[in-house]
Amino acid sequence: MSNHEQHESAHRPVQRKEMSRRQFLSYTLGGTTAFMMGGAVLPMVRFAVDPLLVKKGEGTFVKVVEESKITTEPQEFKFKVHQVDGWYESEPELVAWISRDAEGKIFALSPVCKHLGCTIFWNTKGHNEYDCPCHDARYTRDGKNITVARLPLDEYDVKVDDGIVYLGAIKPNTRV
Ligand code: FES
Repeated sequence: MSNHEQHESAHRPVQRKEMSRRQFLSYTLGGTTAFMMGGAVLPMVRFAVDPLLVKKGEGTFVKVVEESKITTEPQEFKFKVHQVDGWYESEPELVAWISRDAEGKIFALSPVCKHLGCTIFWNTKGHNEYDCPCHDARYTRDGKNITVARLPLDEYDVKVDDGIVYLGAIKPNTRV
């Protein structure tokens, strides 16, 4: 390149690639729309999957009664559990029939009749059995079904710690 050409190119205005009005509008509107959609949709996604992100407390036990109060005679105890069902939190009251077996081991039975779900009671007819008032189902002290119901009473997980009885999840009867 000659000196003359060099001199000319140095004084030529810099050519900038200009954005067209159409491109500018597309980028601006596209960006704004994406931003607004993100603001509206992301909280909904988070809301929809929130329960899945919450860590489940496994094996939660609830304090129910002092160990010294448990005898071989089944007794009814009520206790509250904290429940989180999706976004709904509640503290329903549960019932357990707690007693000791011949070896002194503490166990707790669910009061829900395995026939149609009525509430059973201990020894209402004087036979030392659990009785259901709805259709006369009967269960042994261990919860074994004698009549009407086709399954034994469910059992609670039991933990005894420092003289206190704690109950956990309900599971199928392991005693019969
Ligand atoms: S619900 Fe208990 S006997 Fe039917």
